[in-house]
Amino acid sequence: MALVNFKQMLRIARSGGYAVAAFNPVDYASMRAMVEAAEEIDAPLIMQTSAKTIRYYGHEPLASWYKQLAGESPVPVTLHLDHGKDLDMIKKCIETGWTSVMIDASDRPFEENLEITKQVYDMATAGGLAIEAEIGEIGGVEEDIIVAEEDAHLANPDEAERFCKEFDLGVFAAAIGTAHGYYHGEPKVAFDLIEEIYQRTQTPMALHGGTGLDEETIARCISLGCAKVNISTNLKHIFVDSFAQYHVDHPKDYEPLKVLGAQFEAMKELFRAKMTEFGGAGKGAAMLGEIQKQSV
Ligand code: 13P
Repeated sequence: MALVNFKQMLRIARSGGYAVAAFNPVDYASMRAMVEAAEEIDAPLIMQTSAKTIRYYGHEPLASWYKQLAGESPVPVTLHLDHGKDLDMIKKCIETGWTSVMIDASDRPFEENLEITKQVYDMATAGGLAIEAEIGEIGGVEEDIIVAEEDAHLANPDEAERFCKEFDLGVFAAAIGTAHGYYHGEPKVAFDLIEEIYQRTQTPMALHGGTGLDEETIARCISLGCAKVNISTNLKHIFVDSFAQYHVDHPKDYEPLKVLGAQFEAMKELFRAKMTEFGGAGKGAAMLGEIQKQSV
């Protein structure tokens, strides 16, 4: 069974010194493209839906696409909720087949964040799901969550330690200077903070805002404690640009399946490249075997 939650996945990745790519699908084809790409290069995959995508399609179609596409896959694949804020939506994810959820109460004061995270933690762990939670505040635009530059702030390492003592998280999203969307200017990644937080929490960390970070920066973040790298904006651009480019290159071709085919291949190329860059290629089947062994 390839439908796994990412708790064991990310601990295995961390101890192997690599990270699992987490992509936000926007439709059935992008989900299929990421699973095919993962299988082609034998990489583990985190499929993570944004709240906006759930509101657009509903929970059931997304959960059934996931089961159909990844149920028999030879590589481990998760269905994760990215930046969950609405407790009803989170509850329904737990009931309909997501394997992990993120609770993002990072815009609340720390004590309140702890309280809200606890509610989700109890609900999700009772259903056997893994959890991602955030402290500090990651800047930029992620779907309908907009955090202005002046509101973004880095995680506090004392709070990080307390948070991870309170919860046995699958992955920890501490704000470390990255931002969602394309970067305007040089990203200021706080490498020392990643190192300190990982050393004090021993919890694999999520690198949000992966689009636009160069390979060297990402490799350094992975070496210091990040085991999940999020890519969303990159996919959105390729999704639209590849579709539009096909029409520019073939202005008389009105065969929709050819346009979709070109878009599909462009998405797959992105997925393969990112999974390979983060070190996941060649690790999928072995990781699935290890997860299954640990689960008996
Ligand atoms: P990007 O916008 O940089 O792709 O980041 C996505 C992300 O972190 C989703 O949570």
